[in-house]
Formats: sequence, C-alpha cells, structure tokens
Amino acid sequence: MYTQLEQRGMPEPPVNIASLAKMKKEALPIACITAYDASYAALVDHAGADLVLVGDSLGMVIQGHDTTVPVTVNDIVYHTRAVARGLRRAFLVADMPFMSYANPDQALENAVRLMQDGGAMMIKLEGGQGQIEIVQHLARHDIPVCAHLGLKPQSVHKIGGFKVQGRDSEHAREMLSTAQRLQDAGSDIVLLECVPNEVGKSISTALEVPVIGIGAGPGVDGQILVLYDILDITKGRTPRFVRNFQKEHNSPLAAVEAYVQAVRDRSYPAAEHCFS
Ligand code: KIV
Repeated sequence: MYTQLEQRGMPEPPVNIASLAKMKKEALPIACITAYDASYAALVDHAGADLVLVGDSLGMVIQGHDTTVPVTVNDIVYHTRAVARGLRRAFLVADMPFMSYANPDQALENAVRLMQDGGAMMIKLEGGQGQIEIVQHLARHDIPVCAHLGLKPQSVHKIGGFKVQGRDSEHAREMLSTAQRLQDAGSDIVLLECVPNEVGKSISTALEVPVIGIGAGPGVDGQILVLYDILDITKGRTPRFVRNFQKEHNSPLAAVEAYVQAVRDRSYPAAEHCFS
C-alpha cells in the first residue's frame, strides 16, 4: 500500500506526473523511450528512462505492419501488462490505438482497460480539435492524458504519408492553438511528432505541461524515440530524427544509456535530426 510514499527518500523514487511537471519547471530534459516487453522494459528502466511508452508503433516494429492502423486495444493491453512487470522507476504510458476513442464513452472504456488490465499510468491519444471533448471526458474521470500532435501516424491514409507537419505559418498557429486547447481540456503532457524546431519550441514555451518531442527539435521539454530505432533494428527507411546509438556501443544497455545521457546533456537531437 502506498509504495510511492514509502519510497520517498530513496535515491530513485518512481517517476510520476508531478515529478515530470517539476522537471519541466527546472528545465531538466525528460528522457522517454518506447518498450513492448518485460525484458526491454527492465533494460530501459535500468538505463534511466523517465517515461516508457507502449506505443502503437508496436504494429510496425513488433507485428511487421506498414502502419499503426491494425493495432487493437487487446494488443496494447497485452504489451502494457508485460512492460509494467519490467519497470521499477519509469512512468508508464500506453497508446490508445486507431478508432479506440471515436467518442467519449468508448474512449473512457478503453482507457480504463489500459490502466486496469494493462497497468498504464497515463494514456496517449492522437489529438486535434475533434478530441477536445474526449480529453475533457477522460480528465473528468481522473485519467491522465498525453495528447499527440503534429504527425499523427494513425491518420497516415488521410494525410497521404508520414510527412512533416506545421511547416506553413497558418498550420503552425493552428497547432499551437490546438495544443493550448488540449492542455485546457486536461492533457497532462503533449507529444509533438515531426514538426519544425520553431514550432516545437513555441508550443513548449506556451504550455505549462511538459512537451515531449520526436523530430520536434531541441526546444521541447523531453525527447522520445522508438527503442528499435535507437538499436538500429527497424526495417525500412530511417526517419531523419533517428540517431543510431547502437553503432558506437557494444550492448543494447550501453546504447540506451547513451541515448538517455544524450537527451539529458542535450547533445541529441543535433541539427541533422531536425526539421526547418
Ligand atoms: O507509437 C509510438 O511509438 C509513438 C512514438 C512514435 C511517439 O507514438
């Protein structure tokens, strides 16, 4: 009972929503990473990751699909449960898959499954103006929410590919306003994927909640990468924002430790990983 209270005073208490908010306030970069099973969860936790996401990227890197669209709630619950068993310190976030949050009641039911059956501490959904009401509904029920903006991979067939978002000023302004509305609706974290550096920085500056980036430049509050990209075992074209940390290290643990260190000392992302 109250494990987190008992662990207060220990050198490495578990990360929670309040400690992530504090890291933003103190300008300490938040190191985030995906994981899909207990063994890698233990490894990334040991390497010092603050936040671990069971992403629907598992549809691509685990299941071998070309997109995240086929992933189901059962898939995420299964992998979240495994990851939860491997973590001691990191904060666990699970993705709401495609069409699992089409209306507020469906979103609530599936979020509860990810938390009760999977052990997630927060859910992530790909958000826009259309998801404001859903975020409000989840927040009213004390479900912590991470809203994913910028490139939203679940919309790949609608937008016609995995493309950088917010390059024109009108779209960038719209994204900032959506991010603010999602924060006001109750999002506790915003995740930005594939946006120009200035868009990442302006959204991070405007929001009180932590902004985590993947291909969003160095001006956000934390970084996230897909574990298998860090380890260079993803098939297909490597996105510009990926850095292969395995190249200079002789074990997966050393590679992930190097990633965490590079996020903390802000040497990742470098200019070659960014969009303008
Ligand atoms: O599904 C996932 O792994 C993600 C990351 C790319 C942020 O959403």
